[in-house]
Amino acid sequence: MRLSVIGCGYLGAVHAAAMASIGHDVVGIDVDESKIASLSRGEAPFFEPGLPELLTEGIASGRLRFTTDMAEAQGAKVHFIGVGTPQQKDGSAADLTYVNAAVDALIPYLSEGDVVAGKSTVPVGTAATLAERVAPTGATLVWNPEFLREGFAVKDTIDPDRMVVGVREDGERVADILREVYHPSVAKGTPFIVTDYATAELVKVAANAFLATKISFINAMAEIAEVTGADVTTLADAIGHDARIGRRFLGAGIGFGGGCLPKDIRAFAARAEELGRGESIAFLREVDAINMRRRDRAVDLVVSALGGSVFKKNVTVLGAAFKPHSDDIRDSPALDVAVRLHGLGAWVTITDPEAIENARERHPQLNYVADRDEALRGADAVIVVTEWDEYRRQMSPEHAASLVSGRVIVDGRNCLDAAAWRAAGWEYYGMGRP
Ligand code: UGA
Repeated sequence: MRLSVIGCGYLGAVHAAAMASIGHDVVGIDVDESKIASLSRGEAPFFEPGLPELLTEGIASGRLRFTTDMAEAQGAKVHFIGVGTPQQKDGSAADLTYVNAAVDALIPYLSEGDVVAGKSTVPVGTAATLAERVAPTGATLVWNPEFLREGFAVKDTIDPDRMVVGVREDGERVADILREVYHPSVAKGTPFIVTDYATAELVKVAANAFLATKISFINAMAEIAEVTGADVTTLADAIGHDARIGRRFLGAGIGFGGGCLPKDIRAFAARAEELGRGESIAFLREVDAINMRRRDRAVDLVVSALGGSVFKKNVTVLGAAFKPHSDDIRDSPALDVAVRLHGLGAWVTITDPEAIENARERHPQLNYVADRDEALRGADAVIVVTEWDEYRRQMSPEHAASLVSGRVIVDGRNCLDAAAWRAAGWEYYGMGRP
């Protein structure tokens, strides 16, 4: 099937490449010329495992191309909208500028019978408004939210847990077109849920709100553990054995960040206020507050471990990305902790396997070192803030001890073997662990 994908960021670039890999003829469109140039060369503009291979294959097969020219969307049967919906600069709500601009730019090239499939995360009610704008062209709008995780985006797109398609009352025909698009997953029996616009939009924000709540729940338990001497990691293991609760997303530490969870819970709360139901999800403000407090806690641990001040102390920060397998530093708790320590007068050296370039651009005041051992050399304290394998599995406490000036380690992700680090002579501090 001929498809167009408008917006070639994390969502759109991966979607375009994944759709070509399952046999469709795809054009990816974006206003950013440098992004399009790099994608056209088969190079991913961001770190995403498996994406460069998919781009190269797709381009070589002739089924995948990228352009800045919206006119090339003409003739595609399904047009996916995958542009960003960031947090507004002066508030909590989502900024819909890019979604509106993408739809407006696409409208002149739509034909009778086309399907416009929104994938961006939007406030509930957006699809109904956009449907009115699209209707005069004879095309139909559906809402088809995306649930991919960065770092696993290729797998999540080609083989999702579920597919959700929001349609108008008469939407079965368009739902069938989407079934045809996602034919390998449909054939495999992956749940395919056809519903109304509002439910489809809400499924996405509800899923992210639930995940954020789960993380803040365990971080709240970490706060209680800190004043009682309990160990939140053991607590998470124990409650996680209950299948109704589950262990995933119960990793206590410096909390969640990235381009999705933080802005999505804020936008959801803002939308609920607009709808007169602010109190229904008022707890999301608490989820957000707990999350932000964990960054303070991590900084406090370093300060107190260094005797009450980090001024003119060498602090090595291991990690800058908001999570491993990503070079994304949007709202990264890791980078935030580094910047806060720098603000307190510490000499901060920071390293990350993938995110140094992005981090340096945003925060040039920090000292970036590519090599982990080089970064550790001379440190008075070390803090792990992104649980890359390079730190959690491949860093021996004995070897690290031979490089630093002071054996103080703060485990901001509770990802290290505390006993092994203590046995090697380190003062180990976890988050919500004795
Ligand atoms: C999230 C959702 O997981 C995806 O399903 C969704 O499609 C995506 O947002 C989106 O809306 O586009 P992502 O932002 O890639 O995906 O990252 P997650 O894997 O959810 O991690 C988010 C943050 O939570 C990270 O900073 C991570 O370190 C943190 N986290 C995760 C914890 O602090 N503890 C945990 O136990 C798990």
